[in-house]
Amino acid sequence: MTSERTLRVAFLGAGNVVRGLLEYWPKRDFPIDLRVVGVLRRSGAWRGEETVALDLDALACEPGVDPIQDADVVIEALPSVYPDGAPATRLLKSALEGGIDVLTVNKGPLVAAYRDLNSQAQASGAKFHFCIDGVFPAVNTAVRDLRGATLTRMRAAANSTTNLILTEMEAGRTFDESLAKAVAMEIAEPDPDQDIEGIDTAAKMIIMVNAATGSNFHLDDVRIQGIRDVDPRVAIDSGRAWKLVGVYDGESIQVGPKLYSKDDPFHGIRGTEKIVEFETVEMGKITIMGGASGRMEMAAAIAREILNMYVPQETAVID
Ligand SMILES: NC(=O)c1ccc[n+]([C@@H]2O[C@H](COP(=O)([O-])OP(=O)(O)OC[C@H]3O[C@@H](n4cnc5c(N)ncnc54)[C@H](OP(=O)(O)O)[C@@H]3O)[C@@H](O)[C@H]2O)c1
Repeated sequence: MTSERTLRVAFLGAGNVVRGLLEYWPKRDFPIDLRVVGVLRRSGAWRGEETVALDLDALACEPGVDPIQDADVVIEALPSVYPDGAPATRLLKSALEGGIDVLTVNKGPLVAAYRDLNSQAQASGAKFHFCIDGVFPAVNTAVRDLRGATLTRMRAAANSTTNLILTEMEAGRTFDESLAKAVAMEIAEPDPDQDIEGIDTAAKMIIMVNAATGSNFHLDDVRIQGIRDVDPRVAIDSGRAWKLVGVYDGESIQVGPKLYSKDDPFHGIRGTEKIVEFETVEMGKITIMGGASGRMEMAAAIAREILNMYVPQETAVID
């Protein structure tokens, strides 16, 4: 396929996620020629124009340079910072105010300011997309497919690091060995405590519930317990399985470890798989489960959103 359009991208962050996308994109024949016109790192920013084959570590990043000024789209992959999403919240707001499209993979600004960012996008006409759970499409379901329906309950084991750790511990590995495996697979957060302490799960719950219901939950509205004190023997001895689960009951959100017996679909997910179950008045119960996690998978998820933003879907042909 030949490139149909050029897209000028500013990357906020130049870590694992961005590097994965830069490796993945040229291996596929997508109809978009990505041009990198800005990069922000801790030392400062670079502005110029390069192909996706650029060497990020060779760029001269300097304080005071504005990386987004020449961009059509900002792809933001800074560390998730709670509760205020700094500095990403401010940077995304400024991009949207300037009519620059935004694709973020960072849950921090979405937890801190989803409503504001969304209103800003609507005011300026910029596109505002996000990708908060790798390839797993639950947030797309919450935002798009449950539109107009009334969400009454939701439960989610949507953190692949804790799902993997709990599966590994139930197979006899120690907590530290299991966490090391998640880190080696590049599925853990840059700060793995965000996975283990339940903060990442709480953030995903907040983003999905706020997007699906128009609520305005913040992190300090959520009761959160992590998995550090979970005893795998309790699950093994009773034929059940631990999962770190977020539950929305129509009024509040809680996150904590729960035991599931074999007759519950939450028992069945293994390793890095995830599961989310939505219950609605009009559409009934919808469960999504499975999905791969990793560097290439994350890159594929970002590519999916770039295509969703810029390449019209072919009209489905139904016989
Ligand atoms: N949506 C998903 O499914 C998914 C999956 C994985 C990760 N993520 C998210 O993606 C984000 C990035 O993850 P990652 O693994 O790529 O992280 P990473 O490897 O730690 O990279 C972070 C990047 O941000 C830059 N940075 C950090 N603090 C900064 C600051 N204050 N100002 C400017 N630049 C700053 C770092 O600069 P230097 O290069 O100078 O160090 C680095 O380039 C995180 O929010 C993570 O939660 C999402």
